[in-house]
Amino acid sequence: MTASVAKPGLRPANPNFSSGPCAKRPGWSLEALADAALGRSHRAKIGKSKLEEAIALTREVLQVPADYRIGIVPASDTGAVEMALWSLLGARGVDMVSWESFGAGWVTDVVKQLKLTDVRTFDAPYGQLPDLAKVDFDRDVVFTWNGTTSGVRVPNGDFIPADREGLTICDATSAAFAQRLDFAKLDVVTFSWQKVLGGEGAHGMLILSPRAVARLESYKPAWPLPKIFRLTSGGKLIEGIFKGETINTPSMLCVEDYIDALNWAKSVGGLDGLVARADANFAALDAFAQTSAWLENLAVDPATRSNTSVCFSIVDPEVAALDKDGQAAFAKGIVSALEKEGVAYDIGAYRDAPSGLRIWAGATVETSDLQALTAWLDWAFAQQKAMLKAAA
Ligand SMILES: Cc1ncc(COP(=O)(O)O)c(C=O)c1O
Repeated sequence: MTASVAKPGLRPANPNFSSGPCAKRPGWSLEALADAALGRSHRAKIGKSKLEEAIALTREVLQVPADYRIGIVPASDTGAVEMALWSLLGARGVDMVSWESFGAGWVTDVVKQLKLTDVRTFDAPYGQLPDLAKVDFDRDVVFTWNGTTSGVRVPNGDFIPADREGLTICDATSAAFAQRLDFAKLDVVTFSWQKVLGGEGAHGMLILSPRAVARLESYKPAWPLPKIFRLTSGGKLIEGIFKGETINTPSMLCVEDYIDALNWAKSVGGLDGLVARADANFAALDAFAQTSAWLENLAVDPATRSNTSVCFSIVDPEVAALDKDGQAAFAKGIVSALEKEGVAYDIGAYRDAPSGLRIWAGATVETSDLQALTAWLDWAFAQQKAMLKAAA
């Protein structure tokens, strides 16, 4: 028999460890949205100034260069990425770099929907990065900074040359505000509000370098673009989009919540504070995994381990000996037991990823809650293991 582990006494104060929407910031309540410009036009001075404030705070907290445009766009991160792909690609060959489900989704878009023909794909199994040295940055390059479903990130932007000819289009939704994005190496950066800052879904952020703007103004895709994707008019950038004149109607409640999240970010030390919080959270989980006999980080190379979407495989030999369905059921058993106890919600691996656990460690999560969770992970594992043995 596996020794049973007593139920831990300490519970995480906040059991929300989902990888999106992520935990609200510490201390958040609906009161924080009391100043929302509800029932007013987003084109009125009050609405427009809120949208401008959201953009200005984004620039300040994320340390976006002054000559980069920042726009609020529809349809969350997906909307922002799709706008970039459909508006910019096709002018030259494209290298698509992916190592998990979301990156793979962008490959599908470019190959099967846009039907571009000069496309090279570089992919890697869950837990690894492709060989980035093979990527040709004189072509356009699309990649995800932090692969949310495998917990593998690029360690930095050193693999991207400063003097590239192509554009780099980076889905940074689970990296922004927790990892340092090297803007000089990135021409398009996208993210949503519902990740590291614990904001709401619905709106996306699209950040463009001057080179991306130059492409938009000099290249017209061969395919039609719906209004919701259009960034230019008469061959010129629609500058208003980057000054708070959104393409269509945003939720002023979500905008208020994003402003609240950005002000909280400033109160914890801005980008440095946010990165430090995510790093400390990762360190708490990593310390646990390093001494655990049953769980291991899915990311093989420690330098690529995410400090936001931390993914674990269950490596206990008896579990590893089960077939795929058995392993998935075992992991699910842990997830369900913890959910039932109310100590951890939404920590199952993503549906397309290998079975295991995925625990969000972004800046809105408290390190003490992750520390409390680790004892519960051992408890749930021992419980599942005992059930496995009993069934054998
Ligand atoms: C890397 C990545 N890209 C895209 C998305 C989709 O984001 P959204 O639902 O905000 O459009 C996610 C969501 O988890 C993600 O992690």
